[in-house]
Amino acid sequence: MRKPMIAGNWKMNKTPAETVALVEDLKKIQVRTKAEVVVCPMTVSLFAAATQLKGTDIKLGAQNVHFEDKGAFTGECNIASLKELGVEYVILGHSERRQYFAETDETVNKKVLKVLAEGLKPIVCVGESLQQKQTNITNEVVCMQTKAALCGVSPAKVTDVVIAYEPIWAIGTGMTATATDANRTIAAIRAAIRELFGDAADQVRILYGGSMNDKNATELMSQPEIDGGLIGGASLVAEKFEKVINYHG
Ligand code: G3H
Repeated sequence: MRKPMIAGNWKMNKTPAETVALVEDLKKIQVRTKAEVVVCPMTVSLFAAATQLKGTDIKLGAQNVHFEDKGAFTGECNIASLKELGVEYVILGHSERRQYFAETDETVNKKVLKVLAEGLKPIVCVGESLQQKQTNITNEVVCMQTKAALCGVSPAKVTDVVIAYEPIWAIGTGMTATATDANRTIAAIRAAIRELFGDAADQVRILYGGSMNDKNATELMSQPEIDGGLIGGASLVAEKFEKVINYHG
């Protein structure tokens, strides 16, 4: 019912020239699953990716956007520019942005509302720290982050939102949540969305992220609640990303 999504978050990797080379490799991939494939390069590499992706089924995502239209916000990127480049998805609230760039639930919410209002689709990241996991408050943390991000979203628009559950302790560490733990937490996130939006929650895609790769994608994707993956490291190598995309093996 929910279309699976495999999205690559390239983070601060791949210059424009390197982007062209990686996209050329990705274009050779034969997708044997029903997955929607998305790549999210650095802002400065979006133009190169957009040019190279023309005419393909691979979708383009950004890693951030400002919630204001334009103005005195040095170093930021506005949504009109993303739209001009054909960007369809915008990652928001990644834990690295929350940790290093003071992103808060409030700014994430403003950005979610802006992205939806402009007809793009947010990929909202939520996830607990190791300490929060050890304190057994994972569900409280991720459900709160999810509800805060969705504050003020209209019921008609909530199905355009994608949530990515990314336990912070699993990001870039080689440690993954077990497939059953990830499935259980994602079910809790869906229940939180149901509290706000009723059965529309069944149409909201919820991805897993955190050291998901060519080795563990099959198991994670076999879980009923896991609708896809937000892939960091493994999305930078075409052969690995191909195996994640073709997660049936
Ligand atoms: O957005 C992607 C996640 O942070 C996962 O990164 O696959 O390198 O652990 P990773």
